[in-house]
Amino acid sequence: MSNIMNWIDERFPATKMWKEHVSEYYAPKNFNFWYFFGSLALLVLVLQIVTGIFLTMNYKPDANLAFASVEYIMRDVAGGWIIRYMHSTGASMFFVVVYLHMFRGLLYGSYRQPRELVWIFGMLIFLCLMAEAFLGYLLPWGQMSFWGAQVIVNLFASIPVIGPDLSVFIRGDFVVSDATLNRFFALHVIAVPLVLLMLVVAHLIALHEVGSNNPDGIEIKKNKDPKTGIPLDGIPFHPYYTVKDILGVAVFLIVFSAIVFFAPEMNGYFLEYNNFIPADPLKTPPHIAPVWYFTPFYAILRAIPSFAGTQVWGVLAMGAAVVIIAFLPWLDKSPVKSIRYRGPIYKLALTLFIIAFIGLGILGAIPSTEMRTLLAQALSFVYFGFFLLMPWYTKIDSTKPVPTRVTG
Ligand code: HEM
Repeated sequence: MSNIMNWIDERFPATKMWKEHVSEYYAPKNFNFWYFFGSLALLVLVLQIVTGIFLTMNYKPDANLAFASVEYIMRDVAGGWIIRYMHSTGASMFFVVVYLHMFRGLLYGSYRQPRELVWIFGMLIFLCLMAEAFLGYLLPWGQMSFWGAQVIVNLFASIPVIGPDLSVFIRGDFVVSDATLNRFFALHVIAVPLVLLMLVVAHLIALHEVGSNNPDGIEIKKNKDPKTGIPLDGIPFHPYYTVKDILGVAVFLIVFSAIVFFAPEMNGYFLEYNNFIPADPLKTPPHIAPVWYFTPFYAILRAIPSFAGTQVWGVLAMGAAVVIIAFLPWLDKSPVKSIRYRGPIYKLALTLFIIAFIGLGILGAIPSTEMRTLLAQALSFVYFGFFLLMPWYTKIDSTKPVPTRVTG
């Protein structure tokens, strides 16, 4: 065995890479359960790619055949139903895991210097993930697939000057059609996943360059053993965190299997009921709502009224709601990173932000009324206020003294 490894190592840095990124990657010893979600995101990524490959073997990207090919997968293909439910459940669980992963960043200030690029790569991943989910949603060619795509692509048409041509360019037609389905398929199965994979590699390389943050927000590299140069609060990723991550994987798989086997539609939240009806370009469903993970942003879009017949301000607000998250490293002026040592103002701001995000998520999923629109407007103010006022309230907030060594 060691001869084979030597032969490989002389030609390819296999052992060197293993040591650098796994067995001699020193991670802070105080990771808690919030640190499960990075490895879980990796797991779901692999699950989506593998189940996606098998779905592609029987799916037909053709407006006349797509819907029936999905039914065929569900009823006739051996094991087809479980592959499809794993993929549809995986899409929602990807967002559950990634939202929790991002929230951990807010709790412990993981986006702060020197991890700005880890965060930026993360945000690019988030954009790709949203694009990937949107593209994939058209493929079953149900009513929601069709009308959801119709609504979202039409938003591009509201951009001044280039909008109308841009929306035709995206659809490849004047309405969502077979041409749209074909290009969404190509983008969903290869183009976006390739970019996503490359971004995940960049995300991890950037993380390993600067080292992981931790629940105390202390830089463990500032406290090294003078003899070995190893951080005093660090432990090798393998075996300590490989074993710990297996626990996270086990719990996740229990929840994941429970959904796949007992509630794959999740009451219409993971698979919308209207999408069991084949796409009909002549019949608009009474209530078009995106899947739950888009609803907070959709609510912001709907909260902004159209001025002079254009929806462009709503579209801009929705775009801004996503993009502004990328600026967190420069908006946060607090002298401490972790919520453990922050004062009451940040804690209050973060609580209001969570309430606003969940509230918008609920409002985006249900039909709007005058009262609900008012509420969505108020919550949108809170959402943007969290970011835009951050340079001010993080400066005036009190802080607690940060210890020099991690506390556990
Ligand atoms: C496919 C999606 C993603 C994958 C596979 C992924 C993977 C990972 C992994 C394995 C880690 C190290 C383990 C951990 O700290 O939990 C990590 C850390 C991190 N990720 Fe992600 N990530 C993804 C998306 C994102 C997104 C969308 C963001 C934020 C916009 C983000 C921000 C971060 C940050 C800031 C860290 C460092 C955290 C710390 O050290 O405290 N990631 N990611």
